[in-house]
Amino acid sequence: MKMEVDFRMAIGEVEANYANNSRLQRKALLKTKPVLDKAVRQVCTALLPRAMVVADLGCSVGANTLLFISEVISMLGCHPMELQFFLNDLPGNDFNQVFRSLQQFTKSIAAGHPKGTTLPPFYISGLPGSFYTRLFPCQSVHLFHSSYCLHWQSQLFRKMSMPDKILLSDFPIWNNVQLFILAQMIKDMNKKMAYLNGENVYIAKSTPQSVVELYQDQFQKDMSLFLKLRHQELVPGGKMLLTFLGRKKEDVLDGDLSHLFGLLAQALQSLVTEGLVEKGKLESFNIPMYGPSIDEVKTVITRNKLFCIDHFELFESNWDPYDDLEHDGMHTNPHRGMNVAKSIRAVFEPLLASHFGEYILDKLFQRYAQIVERHLAKENTKYSVIILSLNQRD
Ligand SMILES: C[S@@+](CC[C@H](N)C(=O)[O-])C[C@H]1O[C@@H](n2cnc3c(N)ncnc32)[C@H](O)[C@@H]1O
Repeated sequence: MKMEVDFRMAIGEVEANYANNSRLQRKALLKTKPVLDKAVRQVCTALLPRAMVVADLGCSVGANTLLFISEVISMLGCHPMELQFFLNDLPGNDFNQVFRSLQQFTKSIAAGHPKGTTLPPFYISGLPGSFYTRLFPCQSVHLFHSSYCLHWQSQLFRKMSMPDKILLSDFPIWNNVQLFILAQMIKDMNKKMAYLNGENVYIAKSTPQSVVELYQDQFQKDMSLFLKLRHQELVPGGKMLLTFLGRKKEDVLDGDLSHLFGLLAQALQSLVTEGLVEKGKLESFNIPMYGPSIDEVKTVITRNKLFCIDHFELFESNWDPYDDLEHDGMHTNPHRGMNVAKSIRAVFEPLLASHFGEYILDKLFQRYAQIVERHLAKENTKYSVIILSLNQRD
């Protein structure tokens, strides 16, 4: 699977698709509301745009991106302003599903708008493409928003690449055999990189330092690029609100995602033992995601000198999307394991199916649900979610 072409959330069956299994992400949006409210007000008062351009990066499918749009519209209150929304995601995203829901959405927005006030005119467009590339003309967007996306890396490990076709005339002093040998060496090195993490699928206690550094370097590189591109696209004085998975502890080997994916690795290892998954397949799979610590995020922003931090917050969210209790004690819902497995499957199904084959998915997630259930009975681990509101620097 190529991230920038094929990657997407689960579609299809209502039971398992992302649209119906994204309560966790919805909770993050609700938590972010006061920060969004402040950002929208700041953009309105500081920039006084006649038409405000807002982009939701990594919109996916389902009600969450529409919730974001409706929040911005309702926050505008009586400002006489037009709104242009761009919904961005990778080209593999089911944009048609989003478009099909827009008519109903527009009706419900109009119906919910307070009587006697005018609904600001708004326009919604889809924008396929990776947010690790330029998406907009220079200085054309007032507000960027992205929720539950920036932990996704642009690629797994920075691989050394060879052109598909090499012409001898490109390298007059080299012959075909030498070039072939070089290509093989690079291929082997890439393969070794992927295999270095053993049967882990993310950073774990036994992950070698070289692999940890590959993850960290990729994060620094991706985040720096993202900041640079958005800085170019923002109207001077524009704002950016980013919510993504992070890490509460500085220790990279003890991250919140390490616990979650450590259990997924256990489920996959049990399928290897049963002969359902090849060991080599598991050893060559690494999840292209990284949960940075607060320091790592602050460092990359400070080093880039393109934005200053207006708001920084880390909040914790239970693994079980249906568990809204905020205390740290043990929670007793008997369906926790299943709920967690469903929310993870909705996000990872296409990625896992493309690497391991679709036939393992039911068994894998049954196993994962059991393992998570046992884990949560001993320890109430949570996600750490970072909310970051940034102001563009001149
Ligand atoms: C977990 S979903 C979050 C969707 C939505 N924002 C929400 O809150 O429900 C993450 C989304 O990020 C998208 N995504 C990941 N990497 C991306 C990239 N480089 N460019 C654009 N979208 C990306 C995925 O395709 C996916 O739809």
